[in-house]
Amino acid sequence: MCGIMAYLGGRDTVEVLLEGLRRLEYRGYDSAGVAVSVDGKIELIKSKGKISVLAGLLQNNKPEGRAGIAHTRWATHGPPSTANAHPHPDCEGHIAVVHNGIIENYLELREQLEKEGHTFRSETDTETLAHLFEKYYEGDLEAAVRRGLKQVKGSYAVVAMSDKEPGLLVAARQYSPLIVGLGEKPGENFAASDPSAIIPFTRKAYLVDNGEMVLLTADKVQVKTLAGKAVKKPVFHIEWDAEMAEKGGYKHFMIKEIFEQPHALRETIGDRIVGRRMGLNLEGLGLSDGYLRRLKKIAVIACGTASYAGMAGQYAIEKLCGVPVIVDVASELQHRESVFDKSTLGIAISQSGETADTLQAMRTAHRQGAKLLAITNVIGSSVAREADGLLYIHAGPEIGVASTKAYTSQILAMLLFAVHLGQVREAMTPRVARRLLRGIKALPELAEETLEEAGHIKSLAAKYKDIKRYLYLGRGAHYCSAMEGALKLKEIAYLDAEGYAAGEMKHGPLALVTEECAVLSAVVAGPHYEKSIGNLQEIRARAGRVIAVANKSDKEIAKYADDVIRIPETEEVLSPVLAGIPMQLYAYYVADIWDREIDQPRNLAKSVTVE
Ligand code: G6P
Repeated sequence: MCGIMAYLGGRDTVEVLLEGLRRLEYRGYDSAGVAVSVDGKIELIKSKGKISVLAGLLQNNKPEGRAGIAHTRWATHGPPSTANAHPHPDCEGHIAVVHNGIIENYLELREQLEKEGHTFRSETDTETLAHLFEKYYEGDLEAAVRRGLKQVKGSYAVVAMSDKEPGLLVAARQYSPLIVGLGEKPGENFAASDPSAIIPFTRKAYLVDNGEMVLLTADKVQVKTLAGKAVKKPVFHIEWDAEMAEKGGYKHFMIKEIFEQPHALRETIGDRIVGRRMGLNLEGLGLSDGYLRRLKKIAVIACGTASYAGMAGQYAIEKLCGVPVIVDVASELQHRESVFDKSTLGIAISQSGETADTLQAMRTAHRQGAKLLAITNVIGSSVAREADGLLYIHAGPEIGVASTKAYTSQILAMLLFAVHLGQVREAMTPRVARRLLRGIKALPELAEETLEEAGHIKSLAAKYKDIKRYLYLGRGAHYCSAMEGALKLKEIAYLDAEGYAAGEMKHGPLALVTEECAVLSAVVAGPHYEKSIGNLQEIRARAGRVIAVANKSDKEIAKYADDVIRIPETEEVLSPVLAGIPMQLYAYYVADIWDREIDQPRNLAKSVTVE
């Protein structure tokens, strides 16, 4: 949540900062600002609204300097406004600060600082940091930041600058993501809240850990602990390609990312399925076979879309391995301590790897003695680093706020894990495992085939354009498809959409069904087929419109649905990967008809690093 970009070097500083911010805008887009060091002074320019508004302001008044910090905000403390935009200055404008996270004791600190004569201009928790650093500043920014942060409780990635030390930036991290970009050529360095901001400029980075501080000049980067002890960091190479974070001719990142799914799924499989005998190799999983045999229960920890990917995994693991799986959103799970114990494996699923609720629930799990497996997209992210075992999805940068390719890749990673677990626990025969792996290997191609329905789905979005209320229903493997389908429509089209287990219809939602309501339901071959058809009949009997997502070979379905979207056949447990795609496309095309801000829906942010 919120994006930070910082630069020192000989390029056009404002342009570098804006380019970084544009790549971070998905983290928040309530306001934006830059502070640039110019001839021993700090020039501060900020505005409410998106980065394009800030860029407009900067066009006519561009500070020229060799060091700067910048920020794009997702409001937590204080509404979106220019005053609440970062960077925040101290009283006299000698220090400027950008911050991501939450200063939990800011009210107490602010009261104290006000008593001491500091004047605050914003309602943010962040401004406290600027005044704290001012209070302790005696010609040494590093020392002031260190002393200031000692007073602070909460989470932060912070970068500070002082007009007295123009070529220096001081950054620090506690529970909010921070990365340092090391210039490919001498004489420049970067800091940012995530790798996508710096990939146009460099691939060499330091992953800053909690409790670390970084001193950056154009020529040198020093990492220390908050206590001042030097830390030797390995250089981390960012694999992501700069073009992967561009729209590449598509109208929105979201539609580009929907169409990237065959590629993303191929990358998730990578070389994990080997040879004609379908060997499964989950290198780096970090959980021994002995442990996997002993575990008694699994609890999936995730938020939003990732939690629905967890539901698809839940169905597969329970069915294929006979291990009970709990799925709950991380904001609840972090308080359910009795869920976790030594024989429980927590599986944390997170695209960004930085979601605060997910991290908190992981910590609860660890405290109770559980082990943790991370399924994440971002290499070196906090979720990856705090887990005992790892499965990267390798889906490439996902910029659209509404998750798409990460969802299907997360399901695929869960499926790979389910087969591994089933093999290790001898819950499935080698033949069944081979059959499933062959099915998984075919998914990228089947996803390509599914995408061929895009034109048809677009026409359905137009046909149902005036429908304002949606129900998404699913059973078994497709309970998750219903939940995820409804979430997508809510997020980007701003329409009322409820996801429900189809069996629950008669306990309430059926009352919503009229001719003004459309129902989307994935009805694929498998044990739930008949009952799902029964649900569709109940809806049609009440004049509701039905759009069914069904197998290509299903000859019956047309009798029970107003419209049918076809997906190719695959095993039932694997089919959520395919059914997710029409759900995404439908939401996208509806949102596009209504001209919504698809990549940056109102009030949302991609990476939610506050609880
Ligand atoms: C936000 C995003 C969602 C995402 C959720 C969890 O709400 O808008 O698309 O599913 O966070 O994010 P994570 O990075 O943990 O998967």
